[in-house]
Amino acid sequence: MPLALIGASGRVGADLLKLLAQPAIDAPVQLVGVANSRAALWQAEGLAPGLAAERLRAQAGGSAEALIEQLIAGERPALLVDCTASAAIAAHSARLLEAGVSLVTPNKIAFAGTQRDYQRLRQAALTTPAAWSATVGAGLPILSTIRRLRAAGDRLTAIEATLSGTLGSLLTRVHDGVSLRQALTEAVHHGLAEPDPRIDLSGQDVRRKLTIMLREAGVEIEPGAIALDPLLHLGSEQPWDEAVGAHERDWLGLIQDARRSQSRFVYRARWSLADGAHVALALVPDAHPLAGARGTENRVVLHSEYQGDTPIVIAGAGAGVRITAAAVLADVQAVCEQLLPLASVREQPVRLRRIA
Ligand SMILES: NC(=O)c1ccc[n+]([C@@H]2O[C@H](COP(=O)([O-])OP(=O)(O)OC[C@H]3O[C@@H](n4cnc5c(N)ncnc54)[C@H](OP(=O)(O)O)[C@@H]3O)[C@@H](O)[C@H]2O)c1
Repeated sequence: MPLALIGASGRVGADLLKLLAQPAIDAPVQLVGVANSRAALWQAEGLAPGLAAERLRAQAGGSAEALIEQLIAGERPALLVDCTASAAIAAHSARLLEAGVSLVTPNKIAFAGTQRDYQRLRQAALTTPAAWSATVGAGLPILSTIRRLRAAGDRLTAIEATLSGTLGSLLTRVHDGVSLRQALTEAVHHGLAEPDPRIDLSGQDVRRKLTIMLREAGVEIEPGAIALDPLLHLGSEQPWDEAVGAHERDWLGLIQDARRSQSRFVYRARWSLADGAHVALALVPDAHPLAGARGTENRVVLHSEYQGDTPIVIAGAGAGVRITAAAVLADVQAVCEQLLPLASVREQPVRLRRIA
């Protein structure tokens, strides 16, 4: 099946190409196109995944949008993998699915848009397989668990979660006694935070993930209905590493208080039937399931009607290039499993007519 990859020179996209190039990986796909923000390459007879990133680097011209149109105009089944964080690329998602082109993506933007846009995507995904498990918790089975509960008639009653590897790492370092500025500098240096970490500190990314989780559970919600308190308010007038200085003393006091009360700060996404949805910094006792997370670890506590007083707890690395690329590849395999039987069913009437 033809597969085109947008974001092929990014961290996740490039790693996906490396995985596809491994002889042990047996995916029934043929890479026919790659693109980044500057160029695109299309080769209908197939591109070697191990050489595609290099060929894209040498390519001048072409665009991701043209590659999308080529895929839409081509044969079915076909698959687009969007490994960008781009709103412009995400904007094509519903149109691709409606045109019968399958979609796999770790990009949250399309699935965390308005409820109306989300419903359009879900409707289209009823007939064209799509998968977006890596949008929340990278390789962790978060969306699949919620989907399974729902499929069995169970109903979520509450969610508590830490969903940002970046903010988890930052808070871990601050609890270790490192200054805010140092912790943020490290996060930027290790590629965990954006070069300007104000974007990560805004909590927007966590709100998007909670939106996607709730929708998977069947809760209709607009992202704006989730109350959001940024981890840190850094004004835009100064460079971030200067602006953070004004908060150091407050944070030192907060961390000392947390230690004294045997508690930890976590950046928590929370929802319940009674209290709605919030994303904010929270102080939780050391014994709380969210308090044990360190570094990029995500923790998700799912309360449901069937689970009663014993919630499901999912824990593990919620960010990282290899695990995200691997989750995208597993989604590609899952979509292929759905598509290929469909394709053979579609072929059958043709064969029957020939026999008749
Ligand atoms: N990294 C992680 O641990 C992780 C975990 C979970 C989910 N994700 C999600 O995975 C996605 C990719 O993340 P990443 O870390 O690989 O990002 P990245 O390193 O910044 O790569 C982004 C890629 O997208 C391309 N791109 C951006 N805008 C584009 C446009 N308008 N048209 C075509 N290509 C465009 C970039 O092209 P250029 O190379 O030309 O700039 C680059 O190749 C994001 O949605 C992210 O939220 C990442």
